[in-house]
Amino acid sequence: MTMDGKTVLITGSTDGVGRYVAGRLAADGARVLVHGRDRERGAGLVEEIKRAGRGDAAFYSADLSSLAGTRQLAQAVMADHKRLDIFISNAGIGSQTSGPQRRTSADGHELRFAVNYLSGFLLAHLLRPLLKDAAPSRIVNVASLGQHPIDFDDVMITRGYNGSRAYAQSKLAQIMFTIDLARELAGSGVTVNSLHPATYMNTTMVRASGIAPISTVEQGGAAILHLAGGDDVAGKSGLFFNGMNEAKANPQAYDADARQRLRALSLELTGLA
Ligand SMILES: NC(=O)c1ccc[n+]([C@@H]2O[C@H](COP(=O)([O-])OP(=O)(O)OC[C@H]3O[C@@H](n4cnc5c(N)ncnc54)[C@H](OP(=O)(O)O)[C@@H]3O)[C@@H](O)[C@H]2O)c1
Repeated sequence: MTMDGKTVLITGSTDGVGRYVAGRLAADGARVLVHGRDRERGAGLVEEIKRAGRGDAAFYSADLSSLAGTRQLAQAVMADHKRLDIFISNAGIGSQTSGPQRRTSADGHELRFAVNYLSGFLLAHLLRPLLKDAAPSRIVNVASLGQHPIDFDDVMITRGYNGSRAYAQSKLAQIMFTIDLARELAGSGVTVNSLHPATYMNTTMVRASGIAPISTVEQGGAAILHLAGGDDVAGKSGLFFNGMNEAKANPQAYDADARQRLRALSLELTGLA
């Protein structure tokens, strides 16, 4: 797919693999909607892209640990753009970001579930009209191989909390949502896939976990760019990829009842019900 003239929103593009992907998409001619919380880093990337003279960029600041902040981002994008060709839901926090203890979002939800999953769920729903107007268009959910089944009796992990489980639960939720959304969007020209970009890339999230990086943002970025623009995945939807290859996710992803429970809960928590 040519990126010339395409509008792409990538959340969490002020740092890490998102920043790399934003730069690459702009270099290929896209208009990139850079998102993050840090205005200075956001403005810096926009300036860098404009200076390079290919594509274009604008910065959108929003804190995705609040549903109000998430809605504000969708509203700002909808106010400025009539169509969205690609939405990459990439923003995330790691298992140890801001410490190993359990924390909650502005809305009282377990923080990793809120930032990594719920905000992307809400954005995908709110931005759907823009994506439909740009069809064929794509949604890419940046998940992980780190996946833990959701305990529907304690989704907010109030008992026996640990950051790794919370992270892995939020990542499986993204994959389950991808499968459901693909069914909902069938026939609309909007496709949605999820992926594990690469293992322990050299990013802030990995360094904060005290883990020695074993791959680069270029490697993970290539996998994200593949789902965002690869011709071989055109029309494919509801799939999970490990890097460049289609893969199987945790068995709970293929449990229709579990997906239905997650969907009902997410609609309720985000106020979309
Ligand atoms: N690194 C890996 O090896 C790896 C492996 C598998 C999957 N992934 C996934 O890849 C994605 C990107 O990870 P990364 O390693 O590139 O992380 P990173 O370098 O830590 O960057 C995270 C990005 O998310 C944004 N973000 C975090 N919390 C936010 C919030 N509350 N509101 C708005 N934006 C927020 C950050 O914005 P600020 O600049 O405002 O902080 C930053 O732009 C994540 O979804 C992660 O789970 C990463």
